[in-house]
Amino acid sequence: MSEIKTIGVLTSGGDAPGMNAAIRAVVRAGLYYGMKVMGIRKGYDGLIHGDMEEMTARSVGDIIQRGGTILQTARSPQFKTEEGLNKAMAMAKVFGIDALVVIGGDGSYRGARDICKLGMNVIGIPGTIDNDIGCTDYTIGYDTALNTVQDAIDKIRDTAYSHERCSVLEVMGRHAGYIAVNVSISGGAEAVILPEKPFDLDKDVLKPIIEGRNRGKKNYTVIVAEGVEGKAIEIAKEITEKTGIEARATILGHIQRGGSPTVQDRVMASMMGLKAVEVLKAGARNRIISYKNSVVVDLDLDEALEMKKSLPEELIGLSKIMSL
Ligand code: ADP
Ligand code: F6P
Repeated sequence: MSEIKTIGVLTSGGDAPGMNAAIRAVVRAGLYYGMKVMGIRKGYDGLIHGDMEEMTARSVGDIIQRGGTILQTARSPQFKTEEGLNKAMAMAKVFGIDALVVIGGDGSYRGARDICKLGMNVIGIPGTIDNDIGCTDYTIGYDTALNTVQDAIDKIRDTAYSHERCSVLEVMGRHAGYIAVNVSISGGAEAVILPEKPFDLDKDVLKPIIEGRNRGKKNYTVIVAEGVEGKAIEIAKEITEKTGIEARATILGHIQRGGSPTVQDRVMASMMGLKAVEVLKAGARNRIISYKNSVVVDLDLDEALEMKKSLPEELIGLSKIMSL
């Protein structure tokens, strides 16, 4: 077991609010434990091209409150090739990097698994607004995204009430409905359409809207997860045609990825960044930092990649009952 002297830290895949807080935590914890920390720009691409510089406690000052990632991020097709991986490994050697901390989603972990087969020690930190990583209950950026969507729902509801309309909001989440189901509860939606559940437009969307109107509702909200076939625009059109209630579709898009991270994302990112460095300090190899049962833990990389989680049925039921 050789001592880790130099860590490389990078952000990979889609950015998420709180990634800066995680970078800051890795850098400051690394310095605290006497390690050198290299900040690698633009994800795995930056590693391949040697685009990196030494980080100091000051270079991560004034960033905890900023969305995005100061290191920038990328999706690197080259890293998926044998040639790209070998180049990345050679460049890590040039800069004396003994271990990599990768902040990203499960795509980034698959890349991590590939480079660890070449001898690199990799620690993953979950960063994505989607909360769709099987091995962890929480991912950095999720809470900020939820609050951004909630703010949008509240604003759209003001105008929907004035015009007695139905607003159909498409939210992000890739193939998962974590954002969608939660904001359907917090935003008091009449219906939520999730990739995890087949839906019937008449029964699951039109009926609750019409019944709501008969009970005196003055506006309606339908949340559509982006992973669903048949997107917000088509669904809004059908609602207008079939109920006579004017519907408007809003695709929230990348606003959900930006913004100053919430307290929860900052604290979680700080805890996970510290844990990543402590795991390395303790001599562990190839681990994923995870939040399980309210505790930050580390899991074996291969095992973590096999883990699955599913949308809690109770949340789906809660959303339905609360929409009465
Ligand atoms: P995320 O980490 O948010 O899931 P991506 O799926 O886009 O984002 O993955 C980020 C990067 O990780 C990719 O650009 C690629 O370089 C690497 N990567 C993704 N999937 C794989 C894979 N199956 N094998 C090797 N590397 C991968
Ligand atoms: O993974 C984060 C995410 O924002 C998903 O919710 C969405 O499907 C995807 O990334 C969008 O990717 P891009 O920014 O490349 O359009």
